[in-house]
Amino acid sequence: MTSEISKINPMDIAIEKLKEKHDLNDFKSYEPELVSFLIEDALDNQRQNLSVTFLWFYKNRITGYITLLTDKINLEGNLKEFFREKDIHYKSLPALKIGRLCVHDDFLRRGIGKLMVLFAIKAANDINESKAGCRFITLDAKRNSRKELDSIHFYKRLGFKVLKERSKGATPMYLDLRTSNDN
Ligand SMILES: CC(C)(COP(=O)(O)OP(=O)(O)OC[C@H]1O[C@@H](n2cnc3c(N)ncnc32)[C@H](O)[C@@H]1OP(=O)(O)O)[C@@H](O)C(=O)NCCC(=O)NCCS
Repeated sequence: MTSEISKINPMDIAIEKLKEKHDLNDFKSYEPELVSFLIEDALDNQRQNLSVTFLWFYKNRITGYITLLTDKINLEGNLKEFFREKDIHYKSLPALKIGRLCVHDDFLRRGIGKLMVLFAIKAANDINESKAGCRFITLDAKRNSRKELDSIHFYKRLGFKVLKERSKGATPMYLDLRTSNDN
């Protein structure tokens, strides 16, 4: 059981863009919808330029995956006010979305999820450096009736804020790359 509590060294991780050759059958999660997305839809979506999926390998096993796509946030309420005060009056602002993120059940709580979120933040910062403007990371956090499995707490820990409270279904969240970098 010790392997379940020790963090995985990021140097031991290999990241590969999803390809036809990858064997995904060992992937297991308490969220079955995220397993079926990886096995049935991720590659097709990538071929259609809808999203890109990255697999995270540790000792040749897939420990998790993250799927990224472009997005925007419509400015409403407090967020609209926040940007108005900065003299920014656009209706929406650009974002990079974490479309899916899932850690293999055998590797939970070993730091992989956090590393994958940092990977998305780095990707957004790289886009800003050399490709296009990108202000936010967005995502829809999966809820779970068991608190220790509810991803909203995981994302809040990493600095994400709730965009809209929802009584059921996923909760839209965002991270402002300027305020999280500057402050
Ligand atoms: C949510 C999920 C991605 C977390 O991944 P993980 O690799 O287990 O998380 P990490 O080990 O990187 O945890 C990072 C920190 O968040 C904490 N954390 C992890 N899951 C948490 C949860 N559900 N609630 C509260 N805190 C949590 C960890 O204790 C750790 O804290 P620390 O930095 O103080 O040690 C993983 O549980 C998962 O894949 N769940 C199923 C799919 C899912 O819900 N994906 C998100 C949908 S958008």
